[in-house]
Amino acid sequence: MAQDKKTVVIGVTGGIAVYKALDVVSKLKKKNYEVHVIMTDSATKFVSPLSFQTLSQNIVNYDMFSEPRAWEIQHISLAKKADLIAVIPATANIIGKVANGIADDLLSTTIMATKAPVIFAAAMNTNMYSNPIVQDNISKLQNYGYKFIKPTSGRLACGDEGEGKLVDTEIIAEYIDSMLYDKKDLSGKKVLVTAGPTIASIDPVRYITNRSSGKMGYAIAEEARDRGADVTLVSGATSLKAPFGVKLINVKTNAEMLDNVLENFNDQDIIIKAAAVADYKPKQYSDKKIKKAADEFELTLTKDSDILKKLGELKKHQVLVGFAAESNDLLQNAEKKLKNKNLDYIVANDITASDTGFASDNNKVTILNRDGRTISLEKMSKRQVARKLFDLINEK
Ligand code: CTP
Repeated sequence: MAQDKKTVVIGVTGGIAVYKALDVVSKLKKKNYEVHVIMTDSATKFVSPLSFQTLSQNIVNYDMFSEPRAWEIQHISLAKKADLIAVIPATANIIGKVANGIADDLLSTTIMATKAPVIFAAAMNTNMYSNPIVQDNISKLQNYGYKFIKPTSGRLACGDEGEGKLVDTEIIAEYIDSMLYDKKDLSGKKVLVTAGPTIASIDPVRYITNRSSGKMGYAIAEEARDRGADVTLVSGATSLKAPFGVKLINVKTNAEMLDNVLENFNDQDIIIKAAAVADYKPKQYSDKKIKKAADEFELTLTKDSDILKKLGELKKHQVLVGFAAESNDLLQNAEKKLKNKNLDYIVANDITASDTGFASDNNKVTILNRDGRTISLEKMSKRQVARKLFDLINEK
C-alpha cells in the first residue's frame, strides 16, 4: 500500500534469479513507486538493461564511468534519491563487497553512499550460502542495520537442492512496502491477533467448523507489522499464505486457540480477536469413524470456552478488541458483547451482506468503543478496516 510517491532503487546483481527482479520492478511500479535500477556488469549478461528500463520507465544505470546524462554524479544522486535500496538477487559477491567496505562499481558505491535502508534478497548456490564466510558477512551487515530476506529451499538452477532460492517476488515487494509504510506508530508494541475458524471434531473424519476465511485477521496482523509492531498471529486453518515477519501459531480447536492466546497474553499491548471461534463442540468424540445406521442421527453439543470473555476477565493494561458477526440487531448485539466481555472496542459486521464479510476482500463495519462512541465506516478493503482500527486505538 504505497502512499506518497517514494523512490526505490533496485540493485540487480549477476545470478540466475535476475529475471525475477523484473517482476519485482513491475510489482513496485503497480504500487506506484518511482523505481530506478542499477545493474552490475554481470547482471547485464543475464538480462538486458532494456527490459528493466521498459518496466521501470527510467534509464537503467550500470556503468559508473558512462557519459553523464545529467550534471549529477550518478552514484551520489541515486544514493540520495532513494527512500530504500533493495538488492535483488543479492549474490555472495555483493554481500562480501559491502560487508568489507569495497565500493568498486555503481551499485556498491551507491550502497556505500546512501543513508536509506538497504535490503538484500539473497540468492545463490546452497554451498555458497552456507559457507561461513558468507554467513559472517551477512551477520556483520545485519549488525550494521542492513536487512536480509533469506533465501528459501528448493531445487536450484545448478541442480543442487537446498537453501539458496530467491523468495517469491510477492514477498519481496510486500517487504519493501512494509519498510516504506508511512506510519510506524506501533513500534515497540506487542500485538496478538487471532484469525480464521476453529474446528470441533466429531470423529477422525468429520468436524464442525464455520465459513471464516481468516482474511480480516491476517489483514490486521499485516497492518500491525507494517506499523512496527511485534505481531503474533494465532490462526485456525485457512488457505492464506503465512505473512512474513509475523509469528504465526497454527491451531485447530477452541482449546488450542485458548492455550496459545493465554500463553502469550500477559506481555501483549493489544489483542484483537478476529477469529470465528466455535461456541460448541460434540459432547463425545468418537475415536472410530461413526458408521451410517438409522435415518436420523443426533449429535449432542456442549458449550466450549468463550476465549474473549476469559481475556476480558484477565485484562490488566491490555487493549482488548473483539469482533461481532451478526445477522440482525447489529449494534445492540455488538454493544452487549462489548460490555459482557469487558472489551475496549468491538468491530461489528453484518454477515448477511454478500459483498462484504466472510471470504470477501472487503468489509463494512461499525466500530464501538467502551465510552459509547460509534464509528460507522464505508465499505472498504479489510486492510483499510485494519488501518482505521489502529488509527482509533492510537488516538487515545
Ligand atoms: N469469541 C471467543 N470465543 C468464543 C466465541 C467468540 O473468543 N467461544 C470471540 C470472537 O473471536 C469475537 C467475539 O468473541 O471476537 C464475538 O464472537 P461472536 O461469534 O460474534 O459472538 P459470540 O460471543 O459467540 O456470541 P453469539 O455466537 O451468540 O453471537
